Amino acid sequence: MTTNPQRIAFVGGGNMARSLIGGLVRHGADPAALAVAEPNADLRDALARDFGLSVHADNGEAACGAGVVLLAVKPQVMQPVCTALAPTLAHKPLVISIAAGVRIDQIDAWCGGGLAVVRAMPNTPALIGAGATGLCANARVGDAERAAAERILGAAGLTVWVEREDLMDVVTAISGSAPAYFFLLVEALEAAAVAHGLPADAARALATQTALGAGRMLREDGETPARLRERVTSPNGTTQAALDAFAAGGFRDLVANAVDAATRRGRELSAGSGG
Ligand SMILES: NC(=O)c1ccc[n+]([C@@H]2O[C@H](COP(=O)([O-])OP(=O)(O)OC[C@H]3O[C@@H](n4cnc5c(N)ncnc54)[C@H](OP(=O)(O)O)[C@@H]3O)[C@@H](O)[C@H]2O)c1
Repeated sequence: MTTNPQRIAFVGGGNMARSLIGGLVRHGADPAALAVAEPNADLRDALARDFGLSVHADNGEAACGAGVVLLAVKPQVMQPVCTALAPTLAHKPLVISIAAGVRIDQIDAWCGGGLAVVRAMPNTPALIGAGATGLCANARVGDAERAAAERILGAAGLTVWVEREDLMDVVTAISGSAPAYFFLLVEALEAAAVAHGLPADAARALATQTALGAGRMLREDGETPARLRERVTSPNGTTQAALDAFAAGGFRDLVANAVDAATRRGRELSAGSGG
């Protein structure tokens, strides 16, 4: 077996793998250095057609000799997938897992032990190249492996390292699950506007574009969220009236409770994932 440190093998060729592969290719990665293992023949054919990478029905065949093996299967099949791959990983590639709730020590043990492992938590906007991914590494991950992980996950958006793995549950709560919180806010704004008589399509278009505009200002303006909020809030104006209503309803406590609940649930799922 020849080892090629540049080769990246994806195990599981579903939505997330597709978005990461697409991001890498758009950022100039050589498709010849990418491989994917996927049981579904239609998905394999589509990946080969769209990106020109090598596709395999067998996980070991894809991972054989790769410098990076990225595990993109569902959490519930991680253990059998890793255990079956372990003999193929004897050359100790960097292993990156994006499986929600599966711990680094579990992945390392299932893959044979002694491996450099990065655990990543991307979110669904990665599917359109606007993801936010928390990354956490074990002690075997050096600077070169960190850079490789950042390049791969960074192809689908922003990456942030966290040093303590237990904080990955908070990462899940404020980025992994959080697109749904923003969708909920847009839904609620739309419903409130419709209740006031605005047509639904106009309400959705305005609320959606406002979410996008606010997000872009947060990224591009350089100001803190608090300062941006203050800048659109004139004393006794309409925004102030709405913010007062949010405060009276306990908005900040509600958000804190929601983040607590998601963090707790992440911990429970991690604890229950076996190993
Ligand atoms: N989607 C998200 O927003 C998101 C966010 C953060 C983390 N994640 C994590 O990313 C991982 C992948 O999620 P996804 O949304 O991309 O799921 P997905 O679309 O279902 O992709 C998983 C792929 O793995 C394939 N697969 C199943 N068993 C396999 C095996 N034994 N060997 C190789 N491939 C196998 C599946 O094929 P079949 O369909 O034929 O079974 C499927 O195509 C999950 O662990 C999830 O927790 C996802």
